[in-house]
Order: sequence, then structure tokens, then C-alpha cells
Amino acid sequence: MSYNTSRKPVIAVVGAGPGIGDAVARRFVAEGFFVVLLARNEEKLQTMVEGIDADYGKVAKYYVTDLRSEESIISSFRSIHADLGPVNVMVYNAGARRVNGRSILNTTTDEFESFTKVNLFGAFWSTKCVLPDMLAAGQGTILYTGATGSLRGAAGLSSFSPGKFGLRSLAQIVSRDYQAEGIHAAHIIIDGPVDGKLIGGVLRRRWEQNGDADKLKDIKSYLAQPTDLANIYWFVHTQPQSTWTQELDVRAQKESMLSKL
Ligand SMILES: NC(=O)c1ccc[n+]([C@@H]2O[C@H](COP(=O)([O-])OP(=O)(O)OC[C@H]3O[C@@H](n4cnc5c(N)ncnc54)[C@H](OP(=O)(O)O)[C@@H]3O)[C@@H](O)[C@H]2O)c1
Repeated sequence: MSYNTSRKPVIAVVGAGPGIGDAVARRFVAEGFFVVLLARNEEKLQTMVEGIDADYGKVAKYYVTDLRSEESIISSFRSIHADLGPVNVMVYNAGARRVNGRSILNTTTDEFESFTKVNLFGAFWSTKCVLPDMLAAGQGTILYTGATGSLRGAAGLSSFSPGKFGLRSLAQIVSRDYQAEGIHAAHIIIDGPVDGKLIGGVLRRRWEQNGDADKLKDIKSYLAQPTDLANIYWFVHTQPQSTWTQELDVRAQKESMLSKL
């Protein structure tokens, strides 16, 4: 507990990058949480922790973790428990996909397995790590980040959607298994691109090249904003127990959702 002397509640952002992960971390820290960030790239993690600490005091710590490995996840959560105490909220945010899709015949078994480990297995293993303390406390929140591909299989996303579909099912099962014991599990479907480096960045560059000034001027109507998403995560976490959401979907106002149905 040496890092959390004031015994703040702890949120674990599993799969934390500069987009949703950082925004959710900051939203909860602003409400009095200590945040732990899990991802592979130490340099990026360090930058995020330094940024959060600079704005809020010493309230963030990172754990280099490969979510495709159960041992790596167990080892990180053991250290988190020793350093900070039990995790009160877990956000499983990691996702792995190709930006440009690939048909099934062009998708290797290695890619299918590796991406599915990130999209699904890592969530199963992480959930198993945080549940015992949550059950002992009689409360805990677990939020899973979904995507359009959680509900609809699109051409080219064979190494992405199957894991995301499974994640949706896992979130439902955690609710059925443990909601009566105080665990609030919810699946948050982000049905459209996020204004981050990867997908949002590709779209921004495409719109710049195409001279799509209207979209660039009105970006919030086309790309989900990480800080707005973070408010949704906080809202779900703080719902009164008489009105718990198990699943919700969000999209930017002008997201072309109907074309995807
Ligand atoms: N971006 C979008 O347009 C969009 C749209 C709909 C839904 N989503 C969902 O939103 C989530 C991601 O949010 P975001 O795009 O804003 O990302 P983010 O929070 O900026 O970053 C997510 C982080 O997950 C980490 N990660 C990936 N594979 C990992 C692994 N094997 N082990 C440990 N960490 C791993 C990556 O860090 P390292 O590389 O350092 O490991 C990455 O930086 C995903 O679940 C995605 O499906 C995104």
C-alpha cells in the first residue's frame, strides 16, 4: 500500500493509451481515484503518468503488461494489490484491429489468435484478477469497451469482431454471475470512430486531403471525443443501484450508423 497512503479508491485502466484510456484515467482521478495504467509501451505509459501526476499530484502508476499473456496480467495485478490495495473499478479498454481490413483467407492464424487474446482473453484474465477483492468488498465496477464490431461483423474484420462479440458476452455473463453480489459490469459500445491518433487520425488526414473542411470544422459531430466518452464511463460507474446499465451504445451525432446496419 506504500504508493496509496491516503487510501484512495483505485481504478485500473487495462489497455491505456493517449485516447480513451488517458481520458478515463483523468476523469476518475479528478473524482479522487488513484489510477493504474496497463499497456506494453513503457515510454507512452510514463508520459501519461507524468502528465496525470503533474495535473493532480502523485495519483498514477503504470504497470508494463502484455494482455495476450495470462502470466503478465496476473503478475501486474499482484503488484498492484501489493502497491496500492484492491482495485475498485476496472476498465478493460484494450482492442486490436487492422485499420484496413483483411479477408478471412488473408488472415493468418497467428493474427487471429493474437488479436483475439487482446480483445477477449485479456478481459477474461483481468476480470478474474479483480473479482475476488470486489466480491469480498461487496462492490465493484467493471466496464468493457466495445465497438461497432461488437454487434456487426463487417468485411475485413475477421481478426477483430469475433473477440469483440465475445467481450460483449463476457460482460453479460459477469453481470449474471455477480451482479447480485454487488458487481456492476457494463459493456460500452462505441459505435463509430474516436478522435484519437489511429482511426480518428486516419479520418482527419483523409478529410484534409479531400478538402472536407466542413467535417474538420465540425469534428465533434463526426468523431467521438475521448473526454466525452470518459464522462459516460463515470456516469455508468456512479449510477444508483436501482438503475444499473448493463449495456449502452454511443456515437457522434453525424456518424453514419444507418449505413452499417
Ligand atoms: N479508436 C477508435 O476509433 C475506436 C472506435 C470504437 C471503439 N474503440 C475501442 O476503444 C478501445 C481503445 O480506445 P482508444 O482507441 O482510445 O485507445 P487508447 O486508450 O488510446 O489506447 C489503448 C491502448 O491499449 C493498449 N494495448 C493494445 N494491445 C495491448 C496488449 N497486447 N497489451 C497491453 N496493452 C495493449 C495499447 O498500448 P500499447 O501499444 O502500449 O500496449 C493502446 O495504446 C478499444 O477497445 C477499441 O476497440 C475505438
